[in-house]
Amino acid sequence: MDIRTLGWLNNRIKIIDQTQLPVKCKYISISNLKGVWQAIKTMQVRGAPALGAAAAFGVYLGVRKSRAKKFAHFIRELDTVIKYLNSSRPTARNLFWGLEKMRELALKNKHKKIPEIKKLLLKQAFSILEDDRARCRKIGYHGNKLIKNNDTVLTICNAGILATIDYGTALGALYSAKQAGKKFKVYACETRPMLQGARLTTWELNKKGIDVTLICDSMAAVLMKKGKIDKVITGADRIALNGDTANKIGTYSLAVLCRYHKIPFYVAAPISTFDFKLKSGRQIPIEHRKREEVTELFFKRPISGKAIKVFNPVFDVTPHYLITAFITDKGTIKPPYRKNIKKLMAKEKSG
Ligand code: MRU
Repeated sequence: MDIRTLGWLNNRIKIIDQTQLPVKCKYISISNLKGVWQAIKTMQVRGAPALGAAAAFGVYLGVRKSRAKKFAHFIRELDTVIKYLNSSRPTARNLFWGLEKMRELALKNKHKKIPEIKKLLLKQAFSILEDDRARCRKIGYHGNKLIKNNDTVLTICNAGILATIDYGTALGALYSAKQAGKKFKVYACETRPMLQGARLTTWELNKKGIDVTLICDSMAAVLMKKGKIDKVITGADRIALNGDTANKIGTYSLAVLCRYHKIPFYVAAPISTFDFKLKSGRQIPIEHRKREEVTELFFKRPISGKAIKVFNPVFDVTPHYLITAFITDKGTIKPPYRKNIKKLMAKEKSG
């Protein structure tokens, strides 16, 4: 079965409602801006690269029916739409990257007629989608080189097909290794509190015929101590210029465990996840979500009392010095990160 995270059909965004997985693989169609905002906020669509594409199509839906005749009026409307989508989730760089690409496109074509600009915006959203498809394949190609026959790889959250347009980042490396005929095993951390590992990663790896074992997040250390893990590969939501990386909560703990147990720790991400404007991870905004995600969601009855205080940051920042290498669409980057990420930025600018 083909997994199609996000597409465009009859002027609607078509997504898999990821909150229903793995019980139901249900596709939903979104026809307006508010619907896109809600789908992002409630994580019906999630994962950094998928958010970039959803936001881009959201911009088009937001201005599609604009009656503006002059560009000055149109850009004001576009900026209101962008500001609204900007407020959906704060951490993944790709979301803002997608929105910026849409705005740049509009400005570049400001001398054209408004209907023409609208068409170009839709085309731009499609190219963001295709861009991610191509970049993930390249990440897969470079990631495969790090996977040896009979390896056991640990991952967290979902950095796979469901988090991107197709193929995935961390899981893309695994798909590519499988295509190359390598044999390997995967452990997936369940990823409390929203259980992306348990619900999504095991689902898609299983569909793709990859040997996956689910563990509770707290079991990673024991596996490492027993010598059962050869490497950890995770995705990323935002990477600062010095290599500090925000990813799903629990990623930092894995990186610390890897250092202690002398296990390589890799981060796979496309260029659209790098935030070249941020000097370090201290500047990355971390999303905090509602208490019910910890106290109740996905359970038939509350797992703690209503009065209990909850701390629910959904991302953490792994310091660059704990990261063995980044697997990007432009190749693998090793330390020193500031210098090598700057090189990556230059490569991207020169095409
Ligand atoms: O809260 P989520 O599910 O959107 O968080 C997603 C992650 O943390 C992923 O690991 C990250 O976006 C990389 S996806 C290729």
